[in-house]
Amino acid sequence: MENFLNAMPKAELHLHLEGTLEPELMFKLADRNGIELPYDSVEQLKAAYDFGNLQDFLDLYYQGANVLQTEQDFYDLTWAYIEHCRAQHVIHVEPFFDPQTHTDRGIPFETVINGISRALDDAKARFGITYGLIMCFLRHLSEAAAFETLKQAEPHLDKIIGIGLDSSEKGHPPAKFERVFAKAREWGLLLVAHAGEEGPAQNVIDALDLLHINRIDHGVRASDDPELIKRLIEDKIALTVCPLSNTRLKVFSDMSKHNILDMLDSGVKVTVNSDDPAYFGGYMTENFMALYRSLNMSKEQALELARNSFEYSFASRERKDEMLALLSQYQMT
Ligand code: ADE
Ligand code: ZN
Repeated sequence: MENFLNAMPKAELHLHLEGTLEPELMFKLADRNGIELPYDSVEQLKAAYDFGNLQDFLDLYYQGANVLQTEQDFYDLTWAYIEHCRAQHVIHVEPFFDPQTHTDRGIPFETVINGISRALDDAKARFGITYGLIMCFLRHLSEAAAFETLKQAEPHLDKIIGIGLDSSEKGHPPAKFERVFAKAREWGLLLVAHAGEEGPAQNVIDALDLLHINRIDHGVRASDDPELIKRLIEDKIALTVCPLSNTRLKVFSDMSKHNILDMLDSGVKVTVNSDDPAYFGGYMTENFMALYRSLNMSKEQALELARNSFEYSFASRERKDEMLALLSQYQMT
């Protein structure tokens, strides 16, 4: 099964580039940039990756991002992720980045976006991995700060496909960002938002009704509301679910309690993603394997999850059909 899942062509639609910063690279960049880390070794750092909730994780994640300083650092971070994609047959990616995590430390917006997009362009040229880059607003910061970030992105709209919303969900509901999402929509950007991860099903409804999002990130709490589940099915609104993230952040107490396959079987367009793989114990294959081990996921279910990842990506119709054809071929072999 591991070979089958690893070699299966797939797309990743929920991945924070800052969350791919492996401890080894964190130490290397800290050294390169003369930054002191509050840990003596990779092992000590890894031992700190024991989270009680989302905020516990976010505190470490923002601290880790401090080592990212130069355009080359952002390039190296993105390239390291691409190497994982290659190894795991991820052929299309729609990664997130959090510009405010960097601009608030005095790193220019250009440094961040140029390093990331140069690596993604190289990945496309060298390996044919297609991509759409998504810029996220940090929801614990203000609406004004989000507008400022959108303004900084304006000269770079050719490099991003959409806008997202992440960070602490509790206390920062979608309504706070209604106007900035409306502006991004006017500019023709696609929209996603984290909702229903730690927050209630109502945040999923508000992300749909107030932000007019095209896809929901996480959304697992939607299952608390049967009417909402009916709506997601009828309107084919995809959820980018992150199994290992959800167990590491105690959204589910155990993988055997995860609702992803129940939602899949009831007709919700769910996909599998790794969120912050360097912090949560694995990339795409490890997430699929966790579903096989704890929920007895079948090959048919895995193929349907991969099909959803292509169909509900923001790739062109032509590219979607090309990827779906590759998956059909894979299924035959
Ligand atoms: N930023 C990075 N990972 C996140 C997650 N799982 N939820 C909210 N914000 C995040
Ligand atoms: Zn996320």
